Amino acid sequence: MHFRFIISCLFLFPLATSAFEYRIGVGKDETTGRKGLGFDPSSIHPSAGDIIAFEFRSGVHSVVQSTFENPCVSNGGFNSGVFTVDDALPVDAPGLPIVTLNVNDTNPLWFFDEAGGECHKGAVFSVNPTLDQTPAAFKANAAKPPVFAPSSTASDNASSSASSTTPAGQPSNTSSAAIPSIRLSVQWSALSMFAIYVLRYQFA
Ligand SMILES: *[C@@H]1O[C@H](CO)[C@@H](O)[C@H](O)[C@H]1NC(C)=O
Ligand SMILES: *[C@@H]1O[C@H](CO)[C@@H](O)[C@H](O)[C@H]1NC(C)=O
Ligand SMILES: *[C@@H]1O[C@H](CO)[C@@H](O)[C@H](O)[C@H]1NC(C)=O
Repeated sequence: MHFRFIISCLFLFPLATSAFEYRIGVGKDETTGRKGLGFDPSSIHPSAGDIIAFEFRSGVHSVVQSTFENPCVSNGGFNSGVFTVDDALPVDAPGLPIVTLNVNDTNPLWFFDEAGGECHKGAVFSVNPTLDQTPAAFKANAAKPPVFAPSSTASDNASSSASSTTPAGQPSNTSSAAIPSIRLSVQWSALSMFAIYVLRYQFA
């Protein structure tokens, strides 16, 4: 009996862990459940392989990925595009537009409603926030003016997406990479000069 139960658990395990879809209302107030500011829910803890489905409510909204430090500035990552939904549609009307995003790991992800234009009021969404980087702290950052990392320069004007894979604020690796290669070529030419010297000496 007991043994059989274990076997069935093992058998069911893959089914139980299949991808879960988190349905997130964009332009829906999570406290009132009505159309409004932000995301409902505004924070989730998905696992790798899960799916986030952003469902757009009335008004003009877009879901754009940002960073914990700069909640209201695109980081060049995910961007749902802008959706305009008729104001006449009820908050949970069927057939609302949906955009999905696959969750690949459990690293924190940060988003805001760019087109909604109310990021500073708290239209932000956190995925796998941590004990240090909490949804409340993310919201608090959203209320502040954007911060720019000292290492970033002119190209840093929000909409540029060239740096999409490099998180803002990380130092460029070009200078540090250049030094070892110069050193290497100096060593290499010293070595070849030595080799030429030895060959000459031997065959002279
Ligand atoms: C997960 O990987 C897919 C495929 O590479 C990519 O399209 C998607 O943006 C990734 N998800 C996140 C949250 O980065
Ligand atoms: C970005 O830079 C371009 C050209 O320098 C400028 O026209 C544009 O207004 C800037 N955008 C923002 C959001 O600062
Ligand atoms: C430096 O960074 C660029 C992209 O930013 C990358 O393609 C390159 O491989 C990196 N070089 C080193 C030495 O890490």
